[in-house]
Amino acid sequence: MSGDFLWGVATGAHQTEGNNTSSDWWRFEHAPGAPVGEPSGDAVDGFHRWPEDMDLAAGAGFTDYRFGVEWSRVEPEDGFISRAAVDHYRRMVEGVLSRGLRPFVTLHHFTLPNWFGRGGGWLRADAKQRFLRYVDAIAPVLDAGVAHVGTVNEPNIVAMFAADTGRGMSALRRGLPLPDPQVTETLVEVHHAARARLKARNPKVAVGWGVSVQDCQAEPGAEHLLADYTRPRDEVFLHAASDDDWVGVQTYTRIRVGRGPEGRPVEVTDPAARRTMNGWEFYPEALGGALRRVAPLVGDVPIIVTENGIATEDDDERVEYTSRALQSMRAAMDDGIRVHGYLHWSMLDNYEWGTYATTFGLVAVDRATFTRTPRPSLEWLGRQVPSQRTRS
Ligand code: BGC
Repeated sequence: MSGDFLWGVATGAHQTEGNNTSSDWWRFEHAPGAPVGEPSGDAVDGFHRWPEDMDLAAGAGFTDYRFGVEWSRVEPEDGFISRAAVDHYRRMVEGVLSRGLRPFVTLHHFTLPNWFGRGGGWLRADAKQRFLRYVDAIAPVLDAGVAHVGTVNEPNIVAMFAADTGRGMSALRRGLPLPDPQVTETLVEVHHAARARLKARNPKVAVGWGVSVQDCQAEPGAEHLLADYTRPRDEVFLHAASDDDWVGVQTYTRIRVGRGPEGRPVEVTDPAARRTMNGWEFYPEALGGALRRVAPLVGDVPIIVTENGIATEDDDERVEYTSRALQSMRAAMDDGIRVHGYLHWSMLDNYEWGTYATTFGLVAVDRATFTRTPRPSLEWLGRQVPSQRTRS
């Protein structure tokens, strides 16, 4: 029995806070013809209502709470650090701790300050220096008692956005484009530099990053193409975590890889497959498959499931999905894979990068009043703790 297994819920800054008017995503959402169903607007007013969300997580029995610090609030203009924003996030860390939870903080979750994005985003020559300046600026937040820090959320998806001019989740639903190689290289460098900076300040803080890892399965005759598909899309980012304190796995579905024109790997879709609300194949066992693929790539680095969940309007389906996903994780652990935690995406319904229609939450949110209504899955998942805590 080990008490340090992370059993938690995950949220992200831009998707919950609302009014991130200094971010590049806000600008993107409001650009003429933006490929979004609706802009984020007030989101779920998490900027003000975070105490309610933490109360619900603690009340359900979770031990860890993942949330994001929004760079564009901390540094809304190049070089201007908002002390009020830093204080806000420090109070959030204290709020997590005062409820007996451990804070798990993401430093960058898809959104950038407008000024940084306008200047070329991750392709700027000074990208690393600017990010490190932000990391230094939020020292009071991290020093307030943050246990785990994730530098860049899903760097592989960030590099895919950069490669796709349309930018936005809708593009990813048509398949996963190849990540931009230069952004890939920069993000790896930024991650290593941020990790060094964070560890120099506080050697005890556990630093890593969460990579989008789906269960990639080869179609018959395409086995030899699988590595060509996965290497640039996730493996390079997993290898980059080889000296980290943990590596995050973020899994939702499976991807079937077949043989395309000129022998290239392509994604194969089955029109008859059961699908979730956002069009992904309903395949809960993807979690176990992803963990088994990741384990040999990361050696001794402990794995934390930093995201897993389902968009559905049927909470029974959420319980079915999550229970099968947890069973597949348990089976992987029984086979000796070291999994140190599970954080469910998401604590509450939120802005799913262009829409509020696809609901991932254990807690429903009324879009007009922001009232939080826990779904039965919240209490159900909280109760699963003891069986998941034991690990081999
Ligand atoms: C992201 C989340 C997103 C979730 C579901 C992950 O790609 O980190 O921001 O909401 O998947 O699409």
